[in-house]
Amino acid sequence: MAKRKAAAPKEDAAGANPNEPFGAISDGRVNIGKSIDLKEVESILLRLANRHGLVTGATGTGKTVTLQGLAEGFSQQGVPVFCADVKGDLSGVAEEGEMKPWIEARDKAINFKQDFRASPVIFWDLFGEQGLPIRTTIDSMGPLLLSRLMDLSDAQEGVLNIAFKIADDEKLPKLVTLENLRTLLEGLAARAETLTTKYGNITKASVGSIQRSLLVLQKQGGDHFFGEPALKVDDLRKLTRDERGYISVLAADKLMESPRLYATFLLFLLSELFETLAEVGDPDKPKLVFFFDEAHLLFRDAPKALLEKVEQVVRLIRSKGVGVYFVTQNPLDIPDTVSRQLGNRIQHALRAFSPLEQKAVKAAATTFRANPAFDTEKAIMELGIGEALVSTLDEKGQPSMVQRTLVRPPNARVGPITESERDKVRAASPVNYPQKADDNEKVQARLQQWADGAADAKAADDDEKAATKTGSGRSSRSDSFSTTVGKTFVRTAMPIIMRLLESMLKSLLKRGGGGFTGFGVADTGGGGNSASKGKSKQNQPHNEESECVPFRSIPEERGILGGRKRD
Ligand SMILES: Nc1ncnc2c1ncn2[C@@H]1O[C@H](COP(=O)(O)OP(=O)(O)OP(=O)(O)O)[C@@H](O)[C@H]1O
Ligand SMILES: [Mg+2]
Repeated sequence: MAKRKAAAPKEDAAGANPNEPFGAISDGRVNIGKSIDLKEVESILLRLANRHGLVTGATGTGKTVTLQGLAEGFSQQGVPVFCADVKGDLSGVAEEGEMKPWIEARDKAINFKQDFRASPVIFWDLFGEQGLPIRTTIDSMGPLLLSRLMDLSDAQEGVLNIAFKIADDEKLPKLVTLENLRTLLEGLAARAETLTTKYGNITKASVGSIQRSLLVLQKQGGDHFFGEPALKVDDLRKLTRDERGYISVLAADKLMESPRLYATFLLFLLSELFETLAEVGDPDKPKLVFFFDEAHLLFRDAPKALLEKVEQVVRLIRSKGVGVYFVTQNPLDIPDTVSRQLGNRIQHALRAFSPLEQKAVKAAATTFRANPAFDTEKAIMELGIGEALVSTLDEKGQPSMVQRTLVRPPNARVGPITESERDKVRAASPVNYPQKADDNEKVQARLQQWADGAADAKAADDDEKAATKTGSGRSSRSDSFSTTVGKTFVRTAMPIIMRLLESMLKSLLKRGGGGFTGFGVADTGGGGNSASKGKSKQNQPHNEESECVPFRSIPEERGILGGRKRD
């Protein structure tokens, strides 16, 4: 088959016989290992590496080692890589490897030309401890992902959408920190009555719940993450002078303590890449390869609306030249709609004791093009450590026949690096971000002014209402008739007029089939993702149920996942 008879590594004799040693890369390919009959080198074609991939297998079967080998190969081929270091054992990619009995044995078994070398690495860390701090702004993340981050109910998500809309309408500065968002919400609560008329129901209970979720997020380290200078995603696509791709390694051991933060953050990075990169179709090699380790966290309990968005991002980011490789233990963790898009597949051993595990094995087996030489399902259970079933896209873009494969060892160190080694790598980083976030005082002061103004306005309004009730004060019966009629009009007729205008506007937009359908009130017919969010809704106190529904679709001025589009 064309794929496997492909050119041997440049440094090797091209078209070499199967016994010829092979290296980590070949012309236009990243090598995975050798088929168990030792006849063919299994590899990923660089040209089709943006057709995504999947690495699965039970714990301890060799997923991280496989991922490291791939990352090194892509880097060597001039492709920048992003990956999360979930257990700390991927950091070794920054140091030259050393011989170990299992490496020696595997090298010999498959005639792999071991070439110990370090890969160029940039360390990142949301908490700024083990690498460059990664920050973004509340505004860039947008309400959809923030809602996911805070596990908000539909009603609360609706209120958060409104908060963003109001910030835009009132020309408030772009929100940067969690504190900024908190202050905006304070102002929202203070003006709830007036704003409800214009935007839909805003209950204080919902605002209060969001505020509490903000506190939780803060405790998880959210304060580290929201601030400026924000990450420039181009910094994830750096090349060395000799044109090797930097491997961005995100320290994720501490981050994994907040799985939702981890998964949402990685999804946010993907959406940022999507917004930032230009359309390239199918490039000769990817602009970036993105490994999404512990991918089940992205999909677990995710509302349907978000799953649809993830599916869309994965589908569309391909033409921006980004290959996404999901890494997870159970292939069933990946929803069908996403799984179907993953062209390059590496399946390590699965256990099949429980019925659920047996189901996973069956499902995994059906995703491969069968090889008459063996039973796929049986093979998945028999695979040894560092062995995998491999099927990648061939020259024609078709999945190759599945091959039982002995995965080659990496060239860099397998296992963690020391603190001092990490310090050295960090000192040589080609990019830099300050440890301390920029001062946010100006933005905060402006928002505070707005929130205080709202509070003052409300206090004055309350005074006025009290005075009207007791028949004293400025708003006494001695008020002119026109003033009284005017106020009555504003309080009773205006909301009706506003709703009328709103529904007119909506039907106009619907007819036009436009993107943004606005912040609805319940009379627009429910729907949205409320059903899928039933679970979180059930957890909400009854009085938070509001008529407000979240975005039916994301406004055009916002990006694919609702974040601010890059200017
Ligand atoms: N290609 C390989 N050839 C030989 N041995 C391997 C290979 N890959 C992994 N191993 C052995 O298996 C061990 C575990 O591998 P690895 O850490 O990659 O597993 P894992 O699937 O990532 O585990 P976990 O799910 O616990 O993270 C390695 O330390 C090594 O001893
Ligand atoms: Mg691992």
